[in-house]
Amino acid sequence: MPELIPVLRKDDIKKKVGAIARQISRDYHNSEPVIIGVLKGSFIFLSDLIRQLSIPVTIEFVGISSYGSGSSSTGSIQLTYEIETDLANKDVLIVEDIVDTGLTLVHLIEYLKSKGPKSVRFCTFIDKRERREVEAEIDYACHVVDTGFIVGYGLDYAGKYRNLPDLYHLKF
Ligand code: IMP
Ligand code: MG
Repeated sequence: MPELIPVLRKDDIKKKVGAIARQISRDYHNSEPVIIGVLKGSFIFLSDLIRQLSIPVTIEFVGISSYGSGSSSTGSIQLTYEIETDLANKDVLIVEDIVDTGLTLVHLIEYLKSKGPKSVRFCTFIDKRERREVEAEIDYACHVVDTGFIVGYGLDYAGKYRNLPDLYHLKF
């Protein structure tokens, strides 16, 4: 069995998410952004984040799959669920669980920009830096790690561990 090494407890997560929510609420105080959650990993972070915002928002989802069931990016990114709403002239905020190589981020921004929004920004729960392959512009990050495979709080390994309230390093 792989070992779970604690990274953040749920109280720390709550504080960090609250801080990012206040920053987002300030930055978008004159706007009503469309928040786009990236399925599946972002669903817990997204649901905590939006309940701490003090601005009006609408919520959409996009499905993307880059992994199969392994622990490193295959580089081929597939759209598994298409955005259904009109984004023309909207302020768009993408919400992701983790940025690793950055390939998903770049692909997503390019895809959403093609829909003619007024602005696109990127928010991630975890910014994992060691394996970055492309220049990735992250506007909001709750927590930075250098390395390791992270699970819990929505993040999975082969579909497992998403339901853990705390965040862990998975040691194989
Ligand atoms: P990227 O395209 O390499 O930046 O990978 C981004 C996606 O890979 C994320 O949306 C996650 O779904 C997945 N991923 C990357 N690193 C981890 C990790 O440490 N734990 C869980 N999922 C990860
Ligand atoms: Mg993901």
